Amino acid sequence: MTDLSVRPRCLFVIFGATGDLTKRKLLPAIYQLKLQGQLPDQFAVIATARKEYTDESYREIAKEAVTQYSGSTLKEEIWESLCKQLFYHQLQFDEDDGYAGLKVMLEGLDDQLQTNGNHIFYLAVAPEYFGEISDRIEKFQLINQDRGWYRLMIEKPFGNNLESARELNSDLTRVFREENLYRIDHYLVKEMVRNLMVIRASNQIFEPLWNGDYIDHIEIISMESEGIGLRGRYYDKSGALRDMVQNHLLQMLALTAMEMPDSLSTTKVRTEKVKMLRALIPIDEDQISNQVVLGQYEGYLDEERVKADSPTETFAALKVCLDHPRWRDVPFYLKTGKAVVSKMTQINIQFKRPLGTSYLGDVLQSADPNRLIIKIQPDEGFEVVFNTKKPGTLDSIMPVSMDFCQSCLVEQNTPEAYEKLILDCINGDASSFTHWDELEATWTWIDKITDWAYRNPQEVRTYPKGSEGPEAAEELLKRSKDRDKK
Ligand SMILES: NC(=O)c1ccc[n+]([C@@H]2O[C@H](COP(=O)([O-])OP(=O)(O)OC[C@H]3O[C@@H](n4cnc5c(N)ncnc54)[C@H](OP(=O)(O)O)[C@@H]3O)[C@@H](O)[C@H]2O)c1
Repeated sequence: MTDLSVRPRCLFVIFGATGDLTKRKLLPAIYQLKLQGQLPDQFAVIATARKEYTDESYREIAKEAVTQYSGSTLKEEIWESLCKQLFYHQLQFDEDDGYAGLKVMLEGLDDQLQTNGNHIFYLAVAPEYFGEISDRIEKFQLINQDRGWYRLMIEKPFGNNLESARELNSDLTRVFREENLYRIDHYLVKEMVRNLMVIRASNQIFEPLWNGDYIDHIEIISMESEGIGLRGRYYDKSGALRDMVQNHLLQMLALTAMEMPDSLSTTKVRTEKVKMLRALIPIDEDQISNQVVLGQYEGYLDEERVKADSPTETFAALKVCLDHPRWRDVPFYLKTGKAVVSKMTQINIQFKRPLGTSYLGDVLQSADPNRLIIKIQPDEGFEVVFNTKKPGTLDSIMPVSMDFCQSCLVEQNTPEAYEKLILDCINGDASSFTHWDELEATWTWIDKITDWAYRNPQEVRTYPKGSEGPEAAEELLKRSKDRDKK
Protein backbone atom coordinates (compact mmCIF):
# COMPACT_ATOMS: atom_id res chain seq x y z
CA MET A 1 0.00 0.00 0.00
CA THR A 2 1.22 3.47 -0.89
CA ASP A 3 2.50 5.50 2.04
CA LEU A 4 -0.05 8.33 2.35
CA SER A 5 2.41 10.59 4.08
CA VAL A 6 4.38 10.77 0.83
CA ARG A 7 1.42 11.03 -1.55
CA PRO A 8 2.24 14.10 -3.63
CA ARG A 9 0.48 17.32 -2.64
CA CYS A 10 -1.10 19.11 -5.60
CA LEU A 11 -3.85 21.26 -7.08
CA PHE A 12 -6.37 19.54 -9.36
CA VAL A 13 -7.80 21.91 -11.97
CA ILE A 14 -10.88 20.77 -13.90
CA PHE A 15 -11.76 22.49 -17.19
CA GLY A 16 -15.42 21.77 -18.00
CA ALA A 17 -16.44 21.43 -14.35
CA THR A 18 -20.17 22.00 -14.92
CA GLY A 19 -20.40 19.24 -17.55
CA ASP A 20 -21.76 15.73 -17.50
CA LEU A 21 -18.38 14.00 -17.12
CA THR A 22 -17.42 16.08 -14.09
CA LYS A 23 -20.78 15.60 -12.40
CA ARG A 24 -21.20 11.90 -13.06
CA LYS A 25 -17.60 10.72 -12.74
CA LEU A 26 -14.96 13.18 -11.52
CA LEU A 27 -16.65 14.71 -8.49
CA PRO A 28 -17.98 11.35 -7.20
CA ALA A 29 -14.51 9.82 -7.67
CA ILE A 30 -12.85 12.69 -5.77
CA TYR A 31 -15.41 12.31 -2.98
CA GLN A 32 -14.76 8.55 -2.77
CA LEU A 33 -11.01 9.13 -2.61
CA LYS A 34 -11.58 11.62 0.20
CA LEU A 35 -13.82 9.12 1.98
CA GLN A 36 -11.15 6.42 1.72
CA GLY A 37 -8.48 8.81 3.03
CA GLN A 38 -6.58 8.49 -0.25
CA LEU A 39 -6.19 12.18 -1.05
CA PRO A 40 -3.22 14.16 0.17
CA ASP A 41 -4.12 16.72 2.86
CA GLN A 42 -2.49 19.45 0.84
CA PHE A 43 -4.87 19.17 -2.07
CA ALA A 44 -7.54 21.34 -3.66
CA VAL A 45 -9.89 21.10 -6.61
CA ILE A 46 -10.30 24.19 -8.78
CA ALA A 47 -13.38 23.84 -10.95
CA THR A 48 -13.65 25.99 -14.07
CA ALA A 49 -16.33 26.51 -16.73
CA ARG A 50 -18.14 29.44 -18.31
CA LYS A 51 -21.30 29.46 -16.15
CA GLU A 52 -21.40 31.95 -13.33
CA TYR A 53 -20.99 30.36 -9.91
CA THR A 54 -19.47 31.37 -6.60
CA ASP A 55 -17.51 28.80 -4.58
CA GLU A 56 -20.65 28.32 -2.45
CA SER A 57 -23.13 27.89 -5.31
CA TYR A 58 -20.74 25.53 -7.13
CA ARG A 59 -20.36 23.45 -3.96
CA GLU A 60 -24.14 23.08 -3.91
CA ILE A 61 -24.34 21.65 -7.43
CA ALA A 62 -21.28 19.52 -6.72
CA LYS A 63 -22.99 18.11 -3.63
CA GLU A 64 -26.09 17.25 -5.67
CA ALA A 65 -23.91 15.46 -8.23
CA VAL A 66 -22.00 13.49 -5.61
CA THR A 67 -25.22 12.55 -3.80
CA GLN A 68 -26.74 11.34 -7.04
CA TYR A 69 -23.78 9.53 -8.58
CA SER A 70 -21.34 8.43 -5.91
CA GLY A 71 -23.11 5.12 -5.27
CA SER A 72 -23.11 5.47 -1.47
CA THR A 73 -24.88 7.66 1.07
CA LEU A 74 -23.10 10.97 1.43
CA LYS A 75 -21.24 11.35 4.72
CA GLU A 76 -21.79 14.97 5.76
CA GLU A 77 -18.53 15.32 7.68
CA ILE A 78 -16.50 14.05 4.73
CA TRP A 79 -18.38 16.32 2.35
CA GLU A 80 -17.89 19.35 4.61
CA SER A 81 -14.19 18.65 4.73
CA LEU A 82 -13.99 18.24 0.93
CA CYS A 83 -15.98 21.46 0.43
CA LYS A 84 -13.17 23.43 2.04
CA GLN A 85 -10.89 22.08 -0.70
CA LEU A 86 -13.28 22.87 -3.58
CA PHE A 87 -13.21 26.22 -5.45
CA TYR A 88 -14.83 27.60 -8.59
CA HIS A 89 -13.38 29.96 -11.18
CA GLN A 90 -15.35 31.21 -14.18
CA LEU A 91 -13.62 31.40 -17.55
CA GLN A 92 -14.14 30.98 -21.28
CA PHE A 93 -11.71 28.41 -22.64
CA ASP A 94 -10.93 30.47 -25.71
CA GLU A 95 -10.68 33.94 -24.13
CA ASP A 96 -7.66 35.22 -22.25
CA ASP A 97 -9.64 37.09 -19.58
CA GLY A 98 -10.25 34.34 -17.05
CA TYR A 99 -6.77 32.79 -17.15
CA ALA A 100 -4.97 35.63 -15.37
CA GLY A 101 -7.45 35.27 -12.49
CA LEU A 102 -6.92 31.51 -12.49
CA LYS A 103 -3.18 32.03 -12.16
CA VAL A 104 -3.71 34.29 -9.14
CA MET A 105 -5.98 31.67 -7.60
CA LEU A 106 -3.49 28.83 -8.16
CA GLU A 107 -0.62 30.86 -6.76
CA GLY A 108 -2.67 31.74 -3.68
CA LEU A 109 -3.59 28.10 -3.07
CA ASP A 110 -0.03 26.95 -3.75
CA ASP A 111 1.18 29.30 -1.02
CA GLN A 112 -1.57 28.40 1.40
CA LEU A 113 -1.34 24.62 0.92
CA GLN A 114 2.36 24.38 0.15
CA THR A 115 1.49 22.51 -3.01
CA ASN A 116 4.73 23.65 -4.55
CA GLY A 117 3.35 24.46 -8.01
CA ASN A 118 2.30 20.81 -8.53
CA HIS A 119 -0.69 21.07 -10.87
CA ILE A 120 -2.89 18.50 -12.56
CA PHE A 121 -5.12 19.85 -15.34
CA TYR A 122 -8.07 17.66 -16.27
CA LEU A 123 -9.65 18.58 -19.61
CA ALA A 124 -13.27 17.40 -19.32
CA VAL A 125 -13.98 19.20 -22.58
CA ALA A 126 -14.38 18.48 -26.28
CA PRO A 127 -10.99 17.81 -27.98
CA GLU A 128 -11.28 20.91 -30.19
CA TYR A 129 -10.53 22.96 -27.05
CA PHE A 130 -7.38 21.01 -26.08
CA GLY A 131 -5.04 23.29 -28.04
CA GLU A 132 -6.78 26.53 -26.94
CA ILE A 133 -6.57 25.57 -23.29
CA SER A 134 -3.04 24.18 -23.26
CA ASP A 135 -1.72 27.24 -25.12
CA ARG A 136 -3.26 29.50 -22.47
CA ILE A 137 -1.97 27.30 -19.66
CA GLU A 138 1.48 28.15 -20.97
CA LYS A 139 0.77 31.78 -21.89
CA PHE A 140 -0.53 32.57 -18.41
CA GLN A 141 2.18 30.51 -16.72
CA LEU A 142 -0.16 28.13 -14.93
CA ILE A 143 2.77 25.78 -15.08
CA ASN A 144 6.18 26.64 -13.84
CA GLN A 145 8.91 24.41 -15.23
CA ASP A 146 11.28 25.37 -12.40
CA ARG A 147 8.89 24.71 -9.58
CA GLY A 148 6.91 21.52 -8.96
CA TRP A 149 5.45 19.25 -11.63
CA TYR A 150 2.47 19.51 -13.95
CA ARG A 151 0.32 16.88 -15.68
CA LEU A 152 -2.50 16.97 -18.18
CA MET A 153 -5.29 14.38 -18.12
CA ILE A 154 -7.38 14.01 -21.29
CA GLU A 155 -10.23 11.84 -22.49
CA LYS A 156 -10.57 10.10 -25.84
CA PRO A 157 -11.16 10.58 -28.71
CA PHE A 158 -7.48 11.19 -29.44
CA GLY A 159 -8.13 12.02 -33.08
CA ASN A 160 -10.22 10.32 -35.70
CA ASN A 161 -7.32 8.94 -37.73
CA LEU A 162 -3.53 9.16 -37.70
CA GLU A 163 -3.44 12.62 -39.25
CA SER A 164 -5.90 14.24 -36.83
CA ALA A 165 -4.29 12.43 -33.89
CA ARG A 166 -0.92 13.92 -34.93
CA GLU A 167 -2.43 17.41 -35.13
CA LEU A 168 -4.03 17.06 -31.71
CA ASN A 169 -0.80 15.73 -30.29
CA SER A 170 1.26 18.57 -31.68
CA ASP A 171 -1.21 21.04 -30.10
CA LEU A 172 -0.56 19.42 -26.74
CA THR A 173 3.16 18.81 -27.02
CA ARG A 174 3.76 22.50 -27.77
CA VAL A 175 3.21 22.89 -24.04
CA PHE A 176 3.33 19.50 -22.34
CA ARG A 177 6.11 16.96 -22.59
CA GLU A 178 5.02 13.42 -23.44
CA GLU A 179 5.75 12.18 -19.92
CA ASN A 180 3.31 14.76 -18.54
CA LEU A 181 0.42 13.68 -20.78
CA TYR A 182 -2.02 11.25 -19.18
CA ARG A 183 -4.29 9.96 -21.95
CA ILE A 184 -7.11 8.01 -20.39
CA ASP A 185 -8.18 4.53 -21.49
CA HIS A 186 -10.71 3.29 -18.94
CA TYR A 187 -10.13 -0.32 -19.85
CA LEU A 188 -6.54 -0.16 -18.65
CA VAL A 189 -7.62 0.41 -15.06
CA LYS A 190 -10.20 -2.35 -14.96
CA GLU A 191 -9.27 -4.75 -12.20
CA MET A 192 -8.84 -7.85 -14.38
CA VAL A 193 -7.00 -5.96 -17.12
CA ARG A 194 -4.52 -4.88 -14.44
CA ASN A 195 -4.48 -8.49 -13.30
CA LEU A 196 -3.43 -9.81 -16.72
CA MET A 197 0.29 -9.39 -16.13
CA VAL A 198 0.03 -10.89 -12.66
CA ILE A 199 -1.90 -13.94 -13.89
CA ARG A 200 0.80 -14.55 -16.46
CA ALA A 201 3.86 -13.76 -14.37
CA SER A 202 2.79 -15.58 -11.22
CA ASN A 203 1.46 -18.85 -12.67
CA GLN A 204 3.82 -21.46 -13.97
CA ILE A 205 0.80 -23.31 -15.38
CA PHE A 206 0.25 -20.42 -17.83
CA GLU A 207 3.36 -18.40 -18.67
CA PRO A 208 5.46 -21.24 -20.19
CA LEU A 209 2.49 -22.10 -22.43
CA TRP A 210 1.81 -18.48 -23.46
CA ASN A 211 2.83 -18.86 -27.09
CA GLY A 212 1.90 -20.36 -30.44
CA ASP A 213 3.22 -23.83 -29.52
CA TYR A 214 0.35 -24.27 -27.09
CA ILE A 215 -2.22 -21.58 -27.84
CA ASP A 216 -4.52 -22.01 -30.82
CA HIS A 217 -6.16 -18.60 -30.84
CA ILE A 218 -7.19 -15.73 -28.59
CA GLU A 219 -10.50 -13.88 -28.54
CA ILE A 220 -10.86 -10.37 -27.13
CA ILE A 221 -14.51 -9.49 -26.82
CA SER A 222 -16.32 -6.41 -25.56
CA MET A 223 -20.08 -6.36 -26.05
CA GLU A 224 -22.80 -3.95 -24.96
CA SER A 225 -26.49 -4.76 -24.72
CA GLU A 226 -27.37 -1.05 -24.94
CA GLY A 227 -27.45 0.92 -28.18
CA ILE A 228 -25.73 4.27 -28.53
CA GLY A 229 -28.31 6.16 -26.43
CA LEU A 230 -27.84 9.91 -26.70
CA ARG A 231 -24.25 9.72 -28.00
CA GLY A 232 -25.29 9.92 -31.68
CA ARG A 233 -23.43 13.11 -32.50
CA TYR A 234 -20.10 11.64 -31.41
CA TYR A 235 -20.72 7.99 -32.27
CA ASP A 236 -21.95 8.49 -35.82
CA LYS A 237 -18.60 10.04 -36.75
CA SER A 238 -16.68 7.38 -34.89
CA GLY A 239 -18.15 3.87 -35.12
CA ALA A 240 -17.00 0.67 -33.43
CA LEU A 241 -13.57 0.55 -35.11
CA ARG A 242 -12.52 3.95 -33.77
CA ASP A 243 -14.56 3.97 -30.57
CA MET A 244 -13.53 0.52 -29.32
CA VAL A 245 -11.02 -1.36 -31.49
CA GLN A 246 -8.34 1.31 -32.02
CA ASN A 247 -8.02 1.88 -28.29
CA HIS A 248 -9.59 -0.53 -25.77
CA LEU A 249 -9.41 -3.80 -27.75
CA LEU A 250 -5.91 -3.22 -29.11
CA GLN A 251 -4.72 -2.18 -25.65
CA MET A 252 -6.05 -5.46 -24.23
CA LEU A 253 -4.38 -7.31 -27.10
CA ALA A 254 -1.07 -5.61 -26.32
CA LEU A 255 -1.25 -6.52 -22.64
CA THR A 256 -2.20 -10.12 -23.45
CA ALA A 257 0.47 -10.62 -26.10
CA MET A 258 3.44 -8.59 -24.88
CA GLU A 259 6.66 -10.00 -23.47
CA MET A 260 6.74 -9.76 -19.69
CA PRO A 261 8.59 -6.61 -18.62
CA ASP A 262 11.16 -7.11 -15.86
CA SER A 263 9.50 -4.39 -13.77
CA LEU A 264 6.17 -2.60 -13.60
CA SER A 265 7.72 0.78 -14.33
CA THR A 266 5.75 2.96 -16.73
CA THR A 267 8.54 2.92 -19.30
CA LYS A 268 9.09 -0.84 -19.27
CA VAL A 269 5.38 -1.71 -19.55
CA ARG A 270 4.82 0.81 -22.32
CA THR A 271 7.90 -0.30 -24.24
CA GLU A 272 6.67 -3.90 -24.34
CA LYS A 273 3.16 -2.86 -25.34
CA VAL A 274 4.42 -0.63 -28.13
CA LYS A 275 6.55 -3.49 -29.51
CA MET A 276 3.44 -5.66 -29.83
CA LEU A 277 1.32 -2.89 -31.35
CA ARG A 278 4.03 -2.28 -33.93
CA ALA A 279 3.98 -6.02 -34.68
CA LEU A 280 0.33 -5.86 -35.83
CA ILE A 281 0.40 -7.22 -39.39
CA PRO A 282 -1.35 -4.78 -41.75
CA ILE A 283 -4.30 -6.43 -43.46
CA ASP A 284 -3.92 -6.29 -47.24
CA GLU A 285 -6.72 -4.40 -48.99
CA ASP A 286 -7.86 -7.54 -50.86
CA GLN A 287 -8.00 -9.50 -47.57
CA ILE A 288 -9.95 -6.99 -45.49
CA SER A 289 -13.35 -8.38 -46.43
CA ASN A 290 -12.12 -11.85 -45.36
CA GLN A 291 -10.73 -10.68 -42.05
CA VAL A 292 -13.14 -7.94 -41.02
CA VAL A 293 -16.90 -8.13 -40.45
CA LEU A 294 -18.84 -4.93 -39.81
CA GLY A 295 -22.45 -4.57 -38.73
CA GLN A 296 -25.08 -2.01 -37.75
CA TYR A 297 -27.98 -2.81 -35.46
CA GLU A 298 -31.52 -2.48 -36.78
CA GLY A 299 -32.95 0.82 -35.62
CA TYR A 300 -29.58 2.59 -35.46
CA LEU A 301 -30.68 5.03 -38.19
CA ASP A 302 -33.60 6.14 -35.99
CA GLU A 303 -31.31 7.08 -33.10
CA GLU A 304 -31.00 10.78 -32.25
CA ARG A 305 -28.35 12.76 -34.15
CA VAL A 306 -27.56 9.91 -36.53
CA LYS A 307 -27.55 10.63 -40.28
CA ALA A 308 -30.56 9.11 -42.04
CA ASP A 309 -28.37 7.02 -44.37
CA SER A 310 -25.42 6.54 -42.02
CA PRO A 311 -23.10 3.60 -42.84
CA THR A 312 -21.46 3.80 -39.38
CA GLU A 313 -20.65 0.37 -37.94
CA THR A 314 -21.91 -0.46 -34.46
CA PHE A 315 -20.28 -3.89 -34.60
CA ALA A 316 -16.83 -5.03 -35.68
CA ALA A 317 -15.15 -8.42 -35.68
CA LEU A 318 -11.58 -8.76 -36.91
CA LYS A 319 -8.98 -11.45 -37.35
CA VAL A 320 -5.63 -9.95 -36.36
CA CYS A 321 -2.14 -11.47 -36.57
CA LEU A 322 1.15 -10.42 -35.05
CA ASP A 323 4.57 -10.51 -36.64
CA HIS A 324 6.27 -11.92 -33.57
CA PRO A 325 7.97 -15.28 -32.93
CA ARG A 326 5.80 -15.89 -29.86
CA TRP A 327 2.59 -15.56 -31.86
CA ARG A 328 3.43 -17.02 -35.25
CA ASP A 329 0.22 -18.57 -36.71
CA VAL A 330 -1.89 -17.54 -33.72
CA PRO A 331 -4.91 -15.48 -34.78
CA PHE A 332 -6.38 -12.94 -32.39
CA TYR A 333 -10.08 -12.35 -32.86
CA LEU A 334 -11.36 -8.97 -31.75
CA LYS A 335 -15.10 -8.49 -31.43
CA THR A 336 -17.16 -5.58 -30.20
CA GLY A 337 -20.77 -4.56 -30.71
CA LYS A 338 -23.62 -2.48 -29.42
CA ALA A 339 -27.23 -3.57 -28.86
CA VAL A 340 -26.24 -7.25 -28.77
CA VAL A 341 -27.60 -9.99 -26.57
CA SER A 342 -25.57 -9.29 -23.44
CA LYS A 343 -23.04 -6.94 -21.88
CA MET A 344 -19.71 -8.65 -21.41
CA THR A 345 -16.00 -8.01 -21.80
CA GLN A 346 -13.64 -10.97 -21.70
CA ILE A 347 -10.47 -12.48 -23.11
CA ASN A 348 -10.59 -16.15 -24.12
CA ILE A 349 -7.29 -17.97 -24.46
CA GLN A 350 -7.95 -21.17 -26.35
CA PHE A 351 -5.19 -23.78 -26.10
CA LYS A 352 -4.45 -26.39 -28.75
CA ARG A 353 -6.10 -29.78 -28.62
CA PRO A 354 -4.25 -32.45 -26.67
CA LEU A 355 -1.96 -34.61 -28.80
CA GLY A 356 -3.52 -37.98 -29.63
CA THR A 357 -0.49 -40.02 -28.58
CA SER A 358 -1.53 -41.24 -25.13
CA TYR A 359 -3.35 -44.46 -24.29
CA LEU A 360 -6.57 -42.50 -24.86
CA GLY A 361 -5.71 -42.39 -28.56
CA ASP A 362 -8.67 -41.37 -30.72
CA VAL A 363 -10.83 -40.51 -27.72
CA LEU A 364 -8.78 -37.35 -27.41
CA GLN A 365 -10.16 -36.20 -30.73
CA SER A 366 -13.46 -35.55 -28.99
CA ALA A 367 -11.90 -33.70 -26.05
CA ASP A 368 -12.45 -29.97 -25.82
CA PRO A 369 -9.34 -27.83 -25.93
CA ASN A 370 -8.37 -26.16 -22.63
CA ARG A 371 -9.48 -22.60 -22.22
CA LEU A 372 -8.58 -19.75 -19.91
CA ILE A 373 -11.31 -17.14 -19.81
CA ILE A 374 -10.42 -13.80 -18.24
CA LYS A 375 -13.64 -12.01 -17.31
CA ILE A 376 -13.32 -8.25 -17.23
CA GLN A 377 -16.87 -6.93 -16.90
CA PRO A 378 -19.53 -7.08 -15.59
CA ASP A 379 -18.21 -10.17 -13.77
CA GLU A 380 -14.56 -10.04 -12.79
CA GLY A 381 -12.57 -13.21 -12.46
CA PHE A 382 -11.23 -16.08 -14.46
CA GLU A 383 -12.25 -19.56 -15.46
CA VAL A 384 -10.12 -22.49 -16.53
CA VAL A 385 -11.73 -25.23 -18.60
CA PHE A 386 -9.99 -28.59 -18.55
CA ASN A 387 -10.84 -32.25 -19.17
CA THR A 388 -11.57 -35.09 -16.84
CA LYS A 389 -12.97 -38.61 -16.95
CA LYS A 390 -16.71 -38.84 -17.15
CA PRO A 391 -17.82 -40.53 -13.92
CA GLY A 392 -18.87 -44.15 -14.42
CA THR A 393 -16.96 -44.59 -17.65
CA LEU A 394 -13.41 -45.75 -18.27
CA ASP A 395 -12.24 -43.49 -21.03
CA SER A 396 -14.94 -40.93 -21.82
CA ILE A 397 -13.80 -37.38 -21.40
CA MET A 398 -15.80 -34.38 -20.30
CA PRO A 399 -14.86 -30.71 -19.86
CA VAL A 400 -15.13 -29.17 -16.38
CA SER A 401 -14.37 -25.69 -15.28
CA MET A 402 -12.84 -23.95 -12.29
CA ASP A 403 -14.36 -20.56 -11.99
CA PHE A 404 -12.90 -17.82 -9.80
CA CYS A 405 -15.27 -14.89 -9.40
CA GLN A 406 -13.27 -12.02 -7.97
CA SER A 407 -16.21 -9.60 -7.96
CA CYS A 408 -18.18 -12.16 -5.88
CA LEU A 409 -15.45 -12.64 -3.29
CA VAL A 410 -13.95 -9.22 -2.79
CA GLU A 411 -16.06 -7.57 -0.12
CA GLN A 412 -15.99 -4.05 -1.37
CA ASN A 413 -16.62 -3.09 -4.96
CA THR A 414 -13.44 -2.72 -6.93
CA PRO A 415 -12.55 0.99 -7.15
CA GLU A 416 -14.25 2.95 -9.85
CA ALA A 417 -12.05 3.61 -12.86
CA TYR A 418 -11.90 7.36 -12.25
CA GLU A 419 -10.69 6.91 -8.69
CA LYS A 420 -7.75 4.85 -9.93
CA LEU A 421 -7.04 7.20 -12.81
CA ILE A 422 -6.93 10.28 -10.58
CA LEU A 423 -4.85 8.51 -7.97
CA ASP A 424 -2.39 7.15 -10.53
CA CYS A 425 -1.97 10.63 -11.96
CA ILE A 426 -1.41 12.17 -8.52
CA ASN A 427 1.21 9.48 -7.91
CA GLY A 428 2.84 10.03 -11.30
CA ASP A 429 2.18 6.44 -12.42
CA ALA A 430 1.41 6.64 -16.15
CA SER A 431 1.60 2.89 -16.83
CA SER A 432 -2.18 2.62 -17.28
CA PHE A 433 -2.38 5.61 -19.61
CA THR A 434 -1.73 5.62 -23.35
CA HIS A 435 1.60 6.79 -24.78
CA TRP A 436 1.76 8.59 -28.12
CA ASP A 437 3.75 5.69 -29.63
CA GLU A 438 0.81 3.38 -28.88
CA LEU A 439 -1.62 5.80 -30.51
CA GLU A 440 0.61 6.15 -33.55
CA ALA A 441 0.93 2.38 -33.97
CA THR A 442 -2.80 1.70 -33.56
CA TRP A 443 -3.98 4.53 -35.81
CA THR A 444 -1.45 3.52 -38.47
CA TRP A 445 -2.79 -0.02 -38.40
CA ILE A 446 -6.50 0.75 -38.28
CA ASP A 447 -6.59 3.67 -40.74
CA LYS A 448 -6.39 1.20 -43.63
CA ILE A 449 -9.46 -0.61 -42.35
CA THR A 450 -11.51 2.52 -41.61
CA ASP A 451 -10.62 3.89 -45.08
CA TRP A 452 -11.78 0.62 -46.64
CA ALA A 453 -15.00 0.72 -44.59
CA TYR A 454 -15.62 4.30 -45.75
CA ARG A 455 -15.25 3.26 -49.40
CA ASN A 456 -17.34 0.10 -48.98
CA PRO A 457 -20.48 1.02 -47.02
CA GLN A 458 -22.21 -2.06 -48.47
CA GLU A 459 -19.93 -4.19 -46.25
CA VAL A 460 -21.84 -3.04 -43.16
CA ARG A 461 -24.48 -5.71 -42.50
CA THR A 462 -27.56 -5.07 -40.40
CA TYR A 463 -28.19 -7.30 -37.40
CA PRO A 464 -31.21 -7.54 -35.10
CA LYS A 465 -31.00 -5.80 -31.74
CA GLY A 466 -30.43 -8.32 -28.98
CA SER A 467 -28.71 -10.81 -31.33
CA GLU A 468 -25.07 -11.98 -31.34
CA GLY A 469 -24.28 -9.58 -34.21
CA PRO A 470 -23.92 -10.48 -37.91
CA GLU A 471 -23.64 -14.22 -38.59
CA ALA A 472 -20.54 -13.61 -40.69
CA ALA A 473 -18.69 -12.75 -37.47
CA GLU A 474 -19.25 -16.28 -36.17
CA GLU A 475 -17.95 -17.61 -39.48
CA LEU A 476 -14.63 -15.83 -38.92
CA LEU A 477 -14.01 -17.79 -35.74
CA LYS A 478 -15.50 -21.01 -37.06
CA ARG A 479 -12.84 -21.07 -39.74
CA SER A 480 -10.28 -21.27 -36.97
CA LYS A 481 -12.20 -23.99 -35.14
CA ASP A 482 -12.31 -26.02 -38.35
CA ARG A 483 -8.58 -25.55 -38.70
CA ASP A 484 -8.19 -26.75 -35.13
CA LYS A 485 -10.08 -30.00 -35.83
CA LYS A 486 -7.82 -30.99 -38.72
N1 LIG B 1 -19.81 12.49 -20.22
C1 LIG B 1 -19.09 11.40 -20.10
O1 LIG B 1 -19.40 10.45 -19.38
C2 LIG B 1 -17.80 11.27 -20.89
C3 LIG B 1 -17.10 10.05 -20.86
C4 LIG B 1 -15.90 9.95 -21.55
C5 LIG B 1 -15.42 11.03 -22.28
N2 LIG B 1 -16.13 12.20 -22.29
C6 LIG B 1 -15.55 13.32 -23.05
O2 LIG B 1 -15.33 14.40 -22.14
C7 LIG B 1 -15.59 15.65 -22.76
C8 LIG B 1 -16.61 16.42 -21.93
O3 LIG B 1 -17.84 15.71 -21.94
P1 LIG B 1 -19.13 16.16 -21.14
O4 LIG B 1 -20.14 15.10 -21.40
O5 LIG B 1 -18.82 16.50 -19.75
O6 LIG B 1 -19.55 17.51 -21.94
P2 LIG B 1 -20.61 18.59 -21.50
O7 LIG B 1 -21.62 18.05 -20.56
O8 LIG B 1 -21.09 19.24 -22.77
O9 LIG B 1 -19.73 19.67 -20.67
C9 LIG B 1 -18.87 20.56 -21.30
C10 LIG B 1 -18.20 21.43 -20.26
O10 LIG B 1 -17.33 22.31 -20.93
C11 LIG B 1 -17.68 23.65 -20.59
N3 LIG B 1 -17.50 24.49 -21.75
C12 LIG B 1 -17.85 24.24 -23.03
N4 LIG B 1 -17.43 25.24 -23.82
C13 LIG B 1 -16.80 26.12 -23.03
C14 LIG B 1 -16.12 27.35 -23.26
N5 LIG B 1 -16.00 27.88 -24.47
N6 LIG B 1 -15.56 27.98 -22.21
C15 LIG B 1 -15.65 27.48 -20.96
N7 LIG B 1 -16.29 26.32 -20.67
C16 LIG B 1 -16.85 25.67 -21.70
C17 LIG B 1 -19.11 23.62 -20.17
O11 LIG B 1 -19.30 24.71 -19.32
P3 LIG B 1 -20.72 25.44 -19.13
O12 LIG B 1 -21.64 24.41 -18.55
O13 LIG B 1 -20.40 26.51 -18.15
O14 LIG B 1 -21.16 25.90 -20.47
C18 LIG B 1 -19.15 22.28 -19.44
O15 LIG B 1 -18.62 22.45 -18.16
C19 LIG B 1 -16.05 15.33 -24.17
O16 LIG B 1 -14.96 15.40 -25.05
C20 LIG B 1 -16.51 13.88 -24.09
O17 LIG B 1 -16.35 13.20 -25.32
C21 LIG B 1 -17.30 12.34 -21.64
